[in-house]
Amino acid sequence: MEKGPLIERFNSMFGTGPARLFIAPARVNLIGEHTDHQGGYVLPCAVHLRSACVVRPREDHLLRMAASDLPGIVEADIRDLSGYALIPWGAYQIGVAHIMQEKGYRVTGMDMLFDETVPHGSGLSSSAAIEVVTATVIATLSSETAGTPIDFPELSVIAQSAENDYVGMNCGIMDQFASAMGKKDHAIFLRCADLSYRYITADFRSSGITLMICNTNKPRALIESAYNERRAECDIAFRAVKEEARIEYLAQLTPEAFHRFKYNIEDPVARKRAEHVVYENYRTIQACTLLEERNFDAFGKLMDDSHNSLRDLFEVTGKELDAMVEAARAQKGVLGARMTGAGFGGCAIALVRNEACGDFIRNVARIYNEKTGYNAAFYPAVVSDGACEVMID
Ligand code: GLA
Repeated sequence: MEKGPLIERFNSMFGTGPARLFIAPARVNLIGEHTDHQGGYVLPCAVHLRSACVVRPREDHLLRMAASDLPGIVEADIRDLSGYALIPWGAYQIGVAHIMQEKGYRVTGMDMLFDETVPHGSGLSSSAAIEVVTATVIATLSSETAGTPIDFPELSVIAQSAENDYVGMNCGIMDQFASAMGKKDHAIFLRCADLSYRYITADFRSSGITLMICNTNKPRALIESAYNERRAECDIAFRAVKEEARIEYLAQLTPEAFHRFKYNIEDPVARKRAEHVVYENYRTIQACTLLEERNFDAFGKLMDDSHNSLRDLFEVTGKELDAMVEAARAQKGVLGARMTGAGFGGCAIALVRNEACGDFIRNVARIYNEKTGYNAAFYPAVVSDGACEVMID
């Protein structure tokens, strides 16, 4: 929904008066998949799809929330936000508010209308965008009272703990960090072990390349349990090598060290998971250099290798993502393609030369549909800024 209609909708639900608008973007991860939860490197960028929140403070103790795609108004009492984790929707927002209260942010009563352009369940981090937009609203209102600056990396950590501790999904930090810290035409080279980061120019457009998001539209089922299972398997591998290899987290293993110590990992599944993490982390470091050098051909090859490893070693791709990536790679003008995000459905990304995009969409849509029966959707990504307030004129 555009800015004007969104404000009108808000006013019709909550009455007229001054209101403010905030947005937080979705992300794609260029490379560095399933490395964040092992302290490794990731290379995500924020994109144009976003979560928006129109907000107006209230004088009482109520958080009243509406969403443009969901019925009804959810109400929570800010004097005790601890018990809302299982409500039909709104737990991400209330979880963020709850954690921010505990951290000393001032959470007032508010009317809020949420509106998403991120397709839900597409693996583009719609939940992180909702968490981060909520955190940005609260931090902005709170810091205006306290006169303190907004600490966006801290907001990403708060958003992650809302998801881990309040909602119960054991995700890493990548999605929330990308949504909070994104920068137009840049990727974020983030070291998840300590949240040190560097922006890397990712201006594909001026090199005649489109970063194409390819949505499998396969509903992602049981993703939470499969995700947590992968994390547990990585943990088995880590515990088997940590003392001898003297590492504090799995992604700290270099490929050489992995070969030295891999036989300590008796469980063959855990060994495969670790092999993915180690090499994916190494690829991400290489990919960052290639992106800086604007060597998109070599970068695309690493994207291909990343997908293959997620398919064969980490086993999170599935039939639909594999069909999409295979169809994408077979097209002219494609430099590389891989799944992005947690996997098990959701989206792939491909680097496609601009002049090839029309044929790419037509052919991939057809081949993918023939193989899977699903209709794909395609969104050329605009690499965008992170969470912010949007001025209402
Ligand atoms: C999901 C999680 C992230 C990350 C990716 C896989 O998007 O939220 O923290 O682990 O999967 O790279």
